[in-house]
Amino acid sequence: LDNGQLVPWEGQMDEVHSTISTTKEYKPTLLGTVPHMDEPTALGVLDSAVKAYDQGKGEWPTMRVKDRLACMTSFVEMMKTKRDEVVKLLMWEIGKTLADSEKEFDRTVDYIYDTIEDYKQLDRDSSRFKKVGGINAHIRRGPLGVVLCLGPYNYPLNETFALLIPALIMGNTAVFKPAKHGVLLLSPLLEAFQKSFPAGVINVIYGRGREVAAPIMKTGKIDVLALIGNSKSAIALQDQHPYKNRLRLILGLEAKNPAIVLPSADLELAIDECINGTLSYNGQRCTALKIVYVHEDIKDEFNKRFSKRVDELKFGQPWEEGVKLTPLPEPGKPAYIQELIDDAKDKGAKILNERGGHTSDNYIYPAVLYPVTENMRVYQEEQFGPVIPIKPFKDIHALLDEIAKSNYGQQVSLFGDNVEALAPLIDVLVNLVCRVNLNSSCQRGPDVLPFTGRKDSAVGTLSVHDALRSFSIRTFVASKDN
Ligand code: G3H
Repeated sequence: LDNGQLVPWEGQMDEVHSTISTTKEYKPTLLGTVPHMDEPTALGVLDSAVKAYDQGKGEWPTMRVKDRLACMTSFVEMMKTKRDEVVKLLMWEIGKTLADSEKEFDRTVDYIYDTIEDYKQLDRDSSRFKKVGGINAHIRRGPLGVVLCLGPYNYPLNETFALLIPALIMGNTAVFKPAKHGVLLLSPLLEAFQKSFPAGVINVIYGRGREVAAPIMKTGKIDVLALIGNSKSAIALQDQHPYKNRLRLILGLEAKNPAIVLPSADLELAIDECINGTLSYNGQRCTALKIVYVHEDIKDEFNKRFSKRVDELKFGQPWEEGVKLTPLPEPGKPAYIQELIDDAKDKGAKILNERGGHTSDNYIYPAVLYPVTENMRVYQEEQFGPVIPIKPFKDIHALLDEIAKSNYGQQVSLFGDNVEALAPLIDVLVNLVCRVNLNSSCQRGPDVLPFTGRKDSAVGTLSVHDALRSFSIRTFVASKDN
């Protein structure tokens, strides 16, 4: 999609294979192809976004709020008619279960409607005059410019749109690059983009990051880099920009969210939540619980019951009833998880569950590793996949010191009784991360709540409300009170 046209591509194509296989021996199925763009093509696409923005003078950034909202409403109405197609592709391309794929689609539709409503409110609030020091100030919110937007494979629709939709609604124009896995599912929506927005407002590039995204950054014409994914890509792209001080960043990055299970915890509840927290979508969520700290007094009971529950989970195809674990989209992931397991075993950990570590070509059954220590890779790295490290602790103050040392700071789950008594502990935890979940696993939603992180976990804040502010700047017109 370039300058409002669905441009036919005559160059090299990249094949998109399915994550899942219906045969016993894993054979990737060809699902479709996407353009393998080159640098000049990507730069041409960028030019369309730059022209449409026209340094803030373009039709889109100067359009009346009501008209911009009408474009967005037209888009979401058309999008809803593509639900079945997109849900099916979510299952085939990234192996997300049917329930979670439907949830991702519906959540995205709700996100767009909520953003429209929030923008109306924002516009009403900022249309008021403020009288101060003899000045009448008419405060507004204006766009920032041209946004380069990159979404992740684990939420190729929802998280890409959590960046793109607020960016567009605030009057920015965008070039967006879909994730490598989860790229085809955006195709059914391209026509809706084309029909709903003026030419050049939204443009799409495909291909390798270094061949298409990096050259775009190098031009210095990008005002906002909006990326949900890994910090390596974010840093590599940021580094290409010649005027770093001008570049705004909105980034959702890695996390190593811990669960802390205190002796007073309701064990059944803690186990349920830790199963979900560690293994929803096979642990491929930035909000997943990536390490479980269990108090010495209850570790034996917790470990026994937790590992048994992990072994009861059903592995299968995303559309099958009751399936929790599904194939992994990244071809190298099972081997990587195996490396983490081997390293932990070499350094003294054991696999607690019988099925743990059993592999097929595109899957590895989650291993529960115990006791995990600080010198193990699974302790240090964000596994982003199906392996669960458990570490015992005795003294909560020593544990807080340990958590404070982490390079990440997104969320924590705390399991224990008597929330009032836990208040001092909660007060410390919220200063180490950005969200403390009491007796529940970590998550991003509901999308009206702020979503961010400290340290290397995020730059800027997302949520319906916050994203509109992140993708805009406050400006005002002042007149003298005569
Ligand atoms: O991968 C990171 C996502 O923000 C996780 O979102 O908690 O809604 O699954 P979620």
